[in-house]
Amino acid sequence: MEAPAAPHNPAESGSVQIVVTSPEQMRELGRRLAKLLRAGDLVMLSGELGAGKTTLTRGLGEGLGVRGAVTSPTFVIARVHPSLGDGPPLVHVDAYRLSGGLDEMEDLDLDVSLPESVVVVEWGEGKVEELTEDRLQVVIHRAVGDTTDEVRHMTITGVGERWASADLSMLAA
Ligand SMILES: Nc1ncnc2c1ncn2[C@@H]1O[C@H](COP(=O)(O)OP(=O)(O)O)[C@@H](O)[C@H]1O
Ligand SMILES: [Mg+2]
Repeated sequence: MEAPAAPHNPAESGSVQIVVTSPEQMRELGRRLAKLLRAGDLVMLSGELGAGKTTLTRGLGEGLGVRGAVTSPTFVIARVHPSLGDGPPLVHVDAYRLSGGLDEMEDLDLDVSLPESVVVVEWGEGKVEELTEDRLQVVIHRAVGDTTDEVRHMTITGVGERWASADLSMLAA
């Protein structure tokens, strides 16, 4: 007899928990994550200022092989990093700077570039979900108060059809 299947939310295809202990490990995780990504994918990063969202995106850019160093988008809401090869460009969005939410996102023509790009949004919760049903949600937690602690607890969840059969466990390797 098989054990009854655990109840699960059908929209959430799978989730993996990862502990990262240094900025370099965070970058390496980004490089691994890049291998799972293709044009049209949306990655949402959440976590407080200094959690490591941009550090992760830097590794993602390296893994995707895109031009230009990934930095915190200061004064710009989104930055496009074209591929150095024949892969998709990386669109790096800092939704923290979006005051107007979705309307402002549409002004960026993000929906236009979505099918051709890998779109990474920092702090996009509540703003970009409607752009696509499929997304990878990355939540970064760090210990409250101690700003020197390099330990980060991460939860990465695939949402939607795109991620239904994805094997996220390779990220924990
Ligand atoms: N495990 C870690 N992962 C990522 N960054 C870390 C880690 N430990 C310490 N840091 C430091 O925390 C800061 C994270 O900054 P950043 O990636 O810009 O965060 P965010 O984009 O979330 O505001 C960097 O100075 C980085 O060196
Ligand atoms: Mg950032």
